Amino acid sequence: MKIIDNIAELKKEIALLNGSVGLVPTMGALHNGHKSLINKSVSENKNTIVSIFVNPIQFGANEDLDKYPRQLQEDAKLCESAGVNIIFAPKVSEMYGDDKNNLTLICPPYFAVDKLCGKSRPGHFDGVCSVVAKLFNLTKANKAYFGQKDAQQLFIIQKMVRDLNFDIEIIPCPIVREFDNLALSSRNQYLSTKDRADALNISKALFNAKKMVGEGIKQTRAIIDASLKIMENLDVEYIEFVDKYTFEFQQEVNENTIMLIAARVQDSNTRLIDNINL
Ligand code: PAJ
Repeated sequence: MKIIDNIAELKKEIALLNGSVGLVPTMGALHNGHKSLINKSVSENKNTIVSIFVNPIQFGANEDLDKYPRQLQEDAKLCESAGVNIIFAPKVSEMYGDDKNNLTLICPPYFAVDKLCGKSRPGHFDGVCSVVAKLFNLTKANKAYFGQKDAQQLFIIQKMVRDLNFDIEIIPCPIVREFDNLALSSRNQYLSTKDRADALNISKALFNAKKMVGEGIKQTRAIIDASLKIMENLDVEYIEFVDKYTFEFQQEVNENTIMLIAARVQDSNTRLIDNINL
């Protein structure tokens, strides 16, 4: 496995590869959620590239860019044992030169970003699409692997690939959870014991919603009320229901509904997201 931090060397190494290339874009602090994407890529491609880059242009001014966990050595061990061929871990200046405030950006359409995470994080998805497009161009990957944990991100990237004719296949991967259903996230590292216990109520609310739907309840209002009760110790940012193919809001659940939650735990003020297919 090679660990590469610059574009010139990345291009040289990629030119030497034979066979298909799978790309797993990440911001590092790798956990079993990331590992499931990596394993899928390794099983489906001759070569797998994992990018590890805490992308500053997708963070807002008051967000956690500075404290975001960075642990390249541990990440490299996980990648090596999973059979990754190349880790691409560039510095910010390698990706963006010395003026990251004056870049050509890819801006996803308003209807996709005027809601959910796009609403509370203006510019976030411009930053995500722009870095992902650069990684597609740099790696010339045949397939790229994204988690359903970030359902809005996945939807927006699939739309970008269609709209801009990127020659790459996007492979969605299911959410990996801990034994008690907490969705794995690099940001779980911020949680105190109390925070973690509180955070569990997010997945509890989602699984309770699925149970309610199984019992015949279709009105989102009733599900929201039950969810708010379960999450009363959290600062809930949104509980929303969208059609998984269009990301349009829904008032009534059907077979295409995804329920999405963003909430902050109170001790560390960590913002967590999760979702479920209803
Ligand atoms: P990051 O949060 O590191 O996530 C990298 C990939 O891992 C994303 O596709 C995400 O959906 C997936 N992932 C995270 N937790 C997961 C879980 N519990 N189960 C399954 N998949 C999971 O998402 C980003 O980085 C960035 O926005 C990025 C796409 C790399 C652009 O900078």
